[in-house]
Amino acid sequence: MRFTIAIDGPAAAGKGTISKGVSAHFGFAHLDTGLLYRAVGRRTLDGEGPEAAALALTPEDLNRDDLRSAQVAQAASKVAVIPEVRAALVDFQRGFARRDGGAVLDGRDIGTVICPDADVKLYVTASPEVRAERRYLELSGNGADISRHQVLADVKERDARDMERAQAPLIPAKDAILLDTSDLSIDDVLMAAVAAVQDRVSPTD
Ligand code: CDP
Repeated sequence: MRFTIAIDGPAAAGKGTISKGVSAHFGFAHLDTGLLYRAVGRRTLDGEGPEAAALALTPEDLNRDDLRSAQVAQAASKVAVIPEVRAALVDFQRGFARRDGGAVLDGRDIGTVICPDADVKLYVTASPEVRAERRYLELSGNGADISRHQVLADVKERDARDMERAQAPLIPAKDAILLDTSDLSIDDVLMAAVAAVQDRVSPTD
């Protein structure tokens, strides 16, 4: 059985939590495509050229434990502007989306570019302040020395870069279901996402 769920949205909107919850609920595999860009960004911080880094990406790169920092997030959004970097990552993502047993992919361009024919598309968002607060708690909880102010600035800067780039900008797909998580608890968000997917897995009408 092939079934693809595309989950897109701006920085720290809760895509990861929703993707993990939805994939666990339906027994689907999950790919966090942001990790691909973070891993390329990480390699460029080590001095490699962006396109070469994207072409040379290995599973070990994705398993590094230093990909979640604000510095790597910024590097990721900078390499993500480069068409050659995006092109180098397309086949892997599409192959994952087509795997047997169902797949959930989260990112910025999954419903628009990578999987325009996805069975379900969600666009997850929340106000910049709510997203920054969530990311601040996550980063500071992991021991990062960073202020709320810095995290909000980082989130806004990445959103602007992601939305304004020429290639695969962040934008909701026309047929995406919008989910604003600003005033929802994690449980509420997950229930809404699972219900949206369930509707398509077994339509009641
Ligand atoms: O976790 P967060 O939402 O903050 O970011 P992420 O999903 O890990 O993505 C990091 C960066 O990679 C984003 O700011 C985008 O610039 C880029 N990205 C992208 O361009 N396309 C994707 N499908 C996924 C991520």
